[in-house]
Amino acid sequence: MRKPVTLVLGLFIAGSMAPVHAAGNAAAGKTKSVVCQGCHGTDGNSSNPSYPKLAGQSASYLVKQLTDFKDGKRSNPIMSGMAAPLSPQDRADVAAYFAAQKPVPGTANASPETIKLGEQLFRGGNRKFGISACMSCHGPAGAGIPPRFPRLAGQYAGYVKAQLIAFKNGQRTNDDHIMQSIAFRMSLTQIDAVAQYIQGLH
Ligand code: HEC
Ligand code: HEC
Repeated sequence: MRKPVTLVLGLFIAGSMAPVHAAGNAAAGKTKSVVCQGCHGTDGNSSNPSYPKLAGQSASYLVKQLTDFKDGKRSNPIMSGMAAPLSPQDRADVAAYFAAQKPVPGTANASPETIKLGEQLFRGGNRKFGISACMSCHGPAGAGIPPRFPRLAGQYAGYVKAQLIAFKNGQRTNDDHIMQSIAFRMSLTQIDAVAQYIQGLH
């Protein structure tokens, strides 16, 4: 009688780690995301660095962020308003649409020294500062590891930097303290370098 109990418990734990959500329909999401495309780009490759790229991001991460914006767990004046009217099905559909789009690679725009520092942090972390290697969770090429770890490759450096500073300052707290404890140990020079490296990563 022991085995079934363990199995049920195992399923329960696995289920609670990945929030169950409605299956998304990318075709429906294309229509539902017309307003989003105004900032994030028709295919999720926003052309304005003020708006993060969503193309190729995992649907599970996108759904989580939209839910967090709606519930006030992540705050942003624009996105809190944009997420508010979305139903669970709407969130699943728009996430499926952006997840299915092909990410357009970016180019790094910094000195070779800065890119090298960024690469070292991304690939190996920094033992002295107690910073974990980014690639251990975000993948060796920054493609992300669904459902939990988002894609970073090619993201605008300005956005990446702003998120790391928000984690560091405790302004973004929807990460179960994982990113907050990493960013807290990073200097602004390190944050800038890794953000520049990520923008050119593909
Ligand atoms: C007026 C411009 C604008 C519109 C329209 C807009 N967004 Fe955003 N979006 C932003 C900005 C700015 C951010 C960055 C927020 C921050 O800094 O935390 C963002 C962030 C996001 C994120 C988080 C990305 C990440 O990598 O964590 C998601 C997901 C998102 N938007 C989805 C949507 C969806 C879906 C819609 C349509 C329902 C939408 N956005 C409409 C400007 C916009
Ligand atoms: C132990 C795992 C882990 C490590 C190591 C890690 N991250 Fe993260 N990171 C996460 C998780 C989980 C999230 C998603 C948080 C959420 O759900 O909002 C995240 C989110 C992010 C985001 C926000 C992405 C977005 O689109 O808004 C950035 C930027 C980021 N990480 C950069 C880094 C950098 C740079 C490093 C290395 C210095 C790093 N991460 C190391 C787990 C990790």
